[in-house]
Amino acid sequence: MREPKIMNVGIDFGSSISVIAADNGVRACVPSYVGFPKDMIARRLLGKEYLLGDDAIKNRLSCNVFRPLERGVLKYSDHIEENLSDYQHITWVAQILFKHLINLATQGKPQDFVIRAVIGAPALANEQNKQALLDLTESMLESAHVISEPFSVAYGLGLLNNCLIIDIGGGTVDLCRMQGVYPTKEDQLTTYKAGDYIDNIFFDLLDAKYPDANYTINMLRTFKEEHGIIGNTDEKLILTLPVCGKPTDLDLTDELRQACSSIVPEIADAIKYLVSTYDPEFQEEIKGNIVLAGGGSQIIGLGEELEKHMTESLGYGSVRKVPDPLYAGANGALMYCKDLPEEFWAEQKQAKMKK
Ligand SMILES: Nc1ncnc2c1ncn2[C@@H]1O[C@H](COP(=O)(O)OP(=O)(O)OP(=O)(O)O)[C@@H](O)[C@H]1O
Ligand SMILES: [Mg+2]
Repeated sequence: MREPKIMNVGIDFGSSISVIAADNGVRACVPSYVGFPKDMIARRLLGKEYLLGDDAIKNRLSCNVFRPLERGVLKYSDHIEENLSDYQHITWVAQILFKHLINLATQGKPQDFVIRAVIGAPALANEQNKQALLDLTESMLESAHVISEPFSVAYGLGLLNNCLIIDIGGGTVDLCRMQGVYPTKEDQLTTYKAGDYIDNIFFDLLDAKYPDANYTINMLRTFKEEHGIIGNTDEKLILTLPVCGKPTDLDLTDELRQACSSIVPEIADAIKYLVSTYDPEFQEEIKGNIVLAGGGSQIIGLGEELEKHMTESLGYGSVRKVPDPLYAGANGALMYCKDLPEEFWAEQKQAKMKK
């Protein structure tokens, strides 16, 4: 029998999108949704036990759709005892999603590999949140290690000193200050006004302006991803939505801008805190090294808006974006996974065997 080969993977198990990068060169992602047919008719129509990602969203009328991660962590993992059956169910849903990622990386042959994974979690995920991730992935991996998401971005891009990474995801915005060593709790902050928050604000603003229009949060999210902007634009942002069943052009320029801007004050405050509590000799350098990652980094004008806030509160600020926001976290986690010494993995394996 052939010996299974070691495969290193980096995983960004996100509230919105789950991403895997493997050392065989596979890069893959899937929106973090799993749908189960609601009844016999739906099962007949869909012909599957469950649907993943965009398929689940497209068929949401005939499926019960779950997003296993909320605010960047496995749902209910903060209060497991009080929600035991919900927690067990969502763990099972998350395992389906995770197994799919592993299948993509191994091209359908997980049995041919011994898999070591580094998985990203929000900067301030607690021990229980991290353990929940390790528990749900245990049966599919030889060993796993959880690191903070913005740290994995920093590691992958070699941004290891005098730099502040801001990962703007669906459930959380994670900030991590790099000062040439492994970041501690004091170097990291998490805020919960991220992509999902923008979508909810956008929904409420539209509801107030066009109470007769019909739309879902998914439709608004797609529109945001195509046109999300902060600051002035001459372009009118028009979305055609049914009003009492009739397609009608609605001007959403101000509402989208306002919704996208709603996450800025908390991010600006977090930057101010992490810069002003940094070693004063290096504060000027870090101010020039603010790096945005995650899907939300693609909002047009966000960097400029944060620079304005920094200029006002800190005298100066220069903000740039990572080139590949979707894969930056998983790529960094993969690089970290490959760099971890053999002894580390041997210890992990031993600890697992003792359990
Ligand atoms: N072009 C875009 N403009 C604005 N927002 C975008 C764009 N593309 C994606 N987003 C938003 O980015 C968010 C998803 O980002 P990302 O994939 O980094 O999140 P995640 O890693 O799944 O979430 P988390 O890190 O919170 O667990 C969603 O809210 C999505 O709507
Ligand atoms: Mg993320």
